[in-house]
Amino acid sequence: MRKIAFLTALLAAMVAQPVGATLNASKPDNEMNRFISNLMKQMTLEEKIGQLCQMPDGYITGPDNTQVSLAPLISEGKIGSLLGVCGVAETRKFQDAAMKSQLKIPLLFGMDVIHGYTTGFPLPLAEAASFDLDAIEMSARCAAREAAAAGLHWTFAPMVDISWDARWGRVMEGAGEDPYYGAKVAAARVKGFQGENLADTATILSCIKHFGGYGAPMAGKDYNSVDMSLSHFANFYMPPYKAGAEAGAATFMSAFSDLNNVPCTANSFLLRDLLKNQWGFEGFVVSDWGSVGELMNHRYASDSRDAALKAISAGLDMEMATQCYADNLAELVKEGKVPMKIVDDAVRRILEQKYRLGLFEDPYRYCNEEREREVIGSQKSRDEARYVAERSIVLLKNDHNILPLSPDVKKVALVGALSKSKRDMCGSWTCADVDQTVTLYDALINRGLTVDYSDGYDMEQNRISNLSQTLASARESDVVIVAMGERASYTGEMASRGDIAISDEQQRLVAELVKTGKPVVVLLMCGRPVIFNQVKEEAPAILCTWWLGSEAGPAITNVLWGEYNPSGKLPMSFPAHNGQIPLNYQYKSTGRPTANGGWSTRYRDITTEPAYPFGYGLSYTTFDYSDPKVEASTKPGEYATVSVEVTNTGKRKGEEVVQLYVRDEVASITRPIKELKGFEKIRLEPGETRIVTFPITDEQLGFYDNDMKYRVEKGDFTFMVGSDSKNLKSTSFTLK
Ligand code: GLC
Repeated sequence: MRKIAFLTALLAAMVAQPVGATLNASKPDNEMNRFISNLMKQMTLEEKIGQLCQMPDGYITGPDNTQVSLAPLISEGKIGSLLGVCGVAETRKFQDAAMKSQLKIPLLFGMDVIHGYTTGFPLPLAEAASFDLDAIEMSARCAAREAAAAGLHWTFAPMVDISWDARWGRVMEGAGEDPYYGAKVAAARVKGFQGENLADTATILSCIKHFGGYGAPMAGKDYNSVDMSLSHFANFYMPPYKAGAEAGAATFMSAFSDLNNVPCTANSFLLRDLLKNQWGFEGFVVSDWGSVGELMNHRYASDSRDAALKAISAGLDMEMATQCYADNLAELVKEGKVPMKIVDDAVRRILEQKYRLGLFEDPYRYCNEEREREVIGSQKSRDEARYVAERSIVLLKNDHNILPLSPDVKKVALVGALSKSKRDMCGSWTCADVDQTVTLYDALINRGLTVDYSDGYDMEQNRISNLSQTLASARESDVVIVAMGERASYTGEMASRGDIAISDEQQRLVAELVKTGKPVVVLLMCGRPVIFNQVKEEAPAILCTWWLGSEAGPAITNVLWGEYNPSGKLPMSFPAHNGQIPLNYQYKSTGRPTANGGWSTRYRDITTEPAYPFGYGLSYTTFDYSDPKVEASTKPGEYATVSVEVTNTGKRKGEEVVQLYVRDEVASITRPIKELKGFEKIRLEPGETRIVTFPITDEQLGFYDNDMKYRVEKGDFTFMVGSDSKNLKSTSFTLK
């Protein structure tokens, strides 16, 4: 009876309308496809479903994980991937289990290598402040080199979610608020992780996450619903996902949240229509932790069978951590509820990535003890981490040129527990060997300085401690360095906060230190934009040092003493008040523009201006910008160019991120008052002038309309160039 049922189901599957063009896409006749087609012919339905299942081994990054004994399931071909298993010995052990299965299909080992592996790199948001795509790519390449040496094949990174909401703790994981810049960073990170050829054992699969729109949860609460027009999604949130796919990302991860009332994990508009059919994505989509099972919590699926049906039908290829597929898919296929074609498409997508990694040739090619010893935590990695960390630091204020500090400074009053915290320096979502972190305190000692350390403030009790002793220490010093901010655990997943202000008490401590009359340098250590209006006014020098990883200390001291002239720019607006959030610089004019005052788009009780705007960051030198010049272009696809002369008018060499913003003056939908559409980081010697030229193409002038069609409309545009999203010089252009 079962055979007849199965044959009926098979017939039904063959005539069923495929859910997307990709299911019918004929595969090129090449070695990989021949190999995989032949392998799939030998696979039972259960073995195929096994490839769609990923399970953790003691690595818990979500709720409700029922621990199962993995080795037997692996040897029966019922698990295709593990998450959180790392180290050559551990991965070899589980791969051995897979080699005991009938078809010996190798396991895929994935983990969250978000900003460095054993050698910790700056938070992704901090790296984004470098506006240095080469440095960002190098960071991902180093992470891949070390993770691959540890037996990993796949990282669940880069996270590319755009966010305008600093209450959301996961802003630390992305590239900030701007879709144009976020798209460039996404591509750089994919390239860094995957390199030119995934057969290279220093490369790993990347994973574009969390698709899509996860960074816009209502009220800034993690996992909360996301609801926006398709043109809003397309213009402000979609670009980094699309750029990641175009960069060749091997995998995508669906978001926990729903988008326009359909959970992303079962959202066929996102996973099939947009990703697989329109963008031609040939990799595979993995769920987030348990997000297939959570379709029941969304009240979108009635039970785990319904969840499995809806997720696989929508294009969700691999289930992470829950077992809806393992428990229900075989039955759904046999009943004809899920066409075999859909399962085969998902299996093929996964097997192709294993093939590209060379795992069928040698399942143990990432298991090399010698390479593990040589590569992980190497000096090369640490040098690269310090290089990226230096470039991630943003100089927010430098009155009376307190910075850089003089070589004559010998005695430092160091205040704040964060300055000695190895754990906090690594930030959240870290894989780093925390013990190997060089803190600010360590680095000051290593520089031969006399360091008089005070806690100054109890971060857990939220109160100033031993103020008189702290002030006495300050009075005896040449300079006071204050580590102010939040614990690394204040950001990351499930870390939304309703109030992102640095506590009044922490700010009062800084004010007391400033009153001593000694030079005070505030180091802002945080994983998100934070509010610190009192310190912003009263402290003479402020550096945003984020969480910079294993080499945080040396990077910070190199900037303090000017060995590296800070060049970072804020990738997110820093609010002046919680009430401004969500906040971004790409706001619309509205019918009553803010600038008009009176009856206008503003608050009665607080300013609409950010404390620090997107793209803001100072240098130890100064730069002068000429008026921008527009010239028509005859180059194919290029309407014009915009050029600007930038001069280093100071006494130190320095780097500047020259930014181009564009405003479409009148369009068929309302458009932002400005959008970043170009940037170039240049290094100038004192007195040196450089001409920076930006191309004007469809990329600079176009937008997605309400049908998600990309359009470029004729008419007037304003081009603006400058050192941040506020400090700009403009010129006009008409597209005829
Ligand atoms: C987590 C995160 C996701 C991560 C996954 C595996 O809950 O949302 O970004 O990759 O689970 O750890």
